[in-house]
Amino acid sequence: MTHLKNDLFLRACKRLPVERTPIWVMRQAGRYLPEYRAVRETADFFTMCQTPELAAQVTLQPVDLIGVDAAIIFSDILVIPQAMGMELEMYEGRGPVFPHPIRTRADAKMLKDIDPTVELKYVLDAVALTKRELAGRVPLIGFCGSPWTLMAYMVEGQGSKNFSKVKSLIYNDPKLAHALLDKIANAAALFLSAKIEAGANAVQIFDTWGGLLAYDDFKTFSLQYMEKIIAQIRRTDEPVILFAKGVHSDFNLLADSGADVIGLDWVADIGMVRAQIGHRVALQGNLDPTVLYADPATIEAQAKRVLDAYGHGTGHVFNLGHGILPDIPPENLKSLVTFVQTESAMYH
Ligand code: CP3
Repeated sequence: MTHLKNDLFLRACKRLPVERTPIWVMRQAGRYLPEYRAVRETADFFTMCQTPELAAQVTLQPVDLIGVDAAIIFSDILVIPQAMGMELEMYEGRGPVFPHPIRTRADAKMLKDIDPTVELKYVLDAVALTKRELAGRVPLIGFCGSPWTLMAYMVEGQGSKNFSKVKSLIYNDPKLAHALLDKIANAAALFLSAKIEAGANAVQIFDTWGGLLAYDDFKTFSLQYMEKIIAQIRRTDEPVILFAKGVHSDFNLLADSGADVIGLDWVADIGMVRAQIGHRVALQGNLDPTVLYADPATIEAQAKRVLDAYGHGTGHVFNLGHGILPDIPPENLKSLVTFVQTESAMYH
């Protein structure tokens, strides 16, 4: 870790002493930044993902412009199903769409087994290039979607209100669901290992739709496969962050997953979660992203509440409880980051 000029994020992930609480923000490389929109005007979303120079350029923007304590590689969770052969389109305002979703055993047979060092080499090249351009300023985070969240997109074809198609799949053909989840988990574990090999200092698993599942179904159809990924990642001491949005039934379940850090959405009180699970893992979060619509004084008061709730000592990575929204003024994020970086010293 000594080659990094700022390794606060990695130390907090490993619950080592820090001088202040580190902060980064989910979706920090995105449309809320005019500098991102300027690049996006010259290239479509997947061209940006597939061009290492462009991916590196927008990954660095929040480091240079906002001063966050970690970078997260610009990419998307859906590059795995895309690499497996699924056609994927990105629509302005509507988000990503798979025009030919996986609904039957015959559909599932069309999915290729992938070697991420081949089909997703462009992401690894982007990681390596970003790492060089960062020149040790802050750590670089790699990521993937959880098998459940990826399967939900692959079966629904897009975001959905009730997720009725993927929910019917798990109850009507659990065998097929498990075969799909297993295939995705293997690809994801290889992908995260390759990202670490390419230079990622930490990795995050996004289980954006984990909260759709009942307690037992979450264990069976989501958690089990994230645990499998965590156990299979080839790493030395790179921390793994598990972010399961909407999963509030039992934080001990997440703390026992093998992850080093549990990411929290904004619903639970971070101090209560800390008290529940003890000091086994670090916690990341958990300011409500819509607080950033407010004036600086309100943003600071709300951020202070999160710092206070976590309390004294290491093991806290400050973040929003979900991605930053595209219509947030960048200066509001900047005031949050500056406030957390200054105010948090008194907790250490
Ligand atoms: O955090 C970062 O800055 C790194 C980049 C990143 C993106 N997507 C870029 C992106 C990361 C970590 C993701 C993860 C991702 N992608 C998730 C999990 C996190 C979450 O938000 O729950 C999910 C569910 C996706 C799938 C996805 N990609 C959706 C639903 C959308 C559309 C949403 C929207 O805001 O329009 C995307 C597109 C996307 N991924 C954008 C960005 C910057 C916006 C696309 C654009 O520039 O037009």
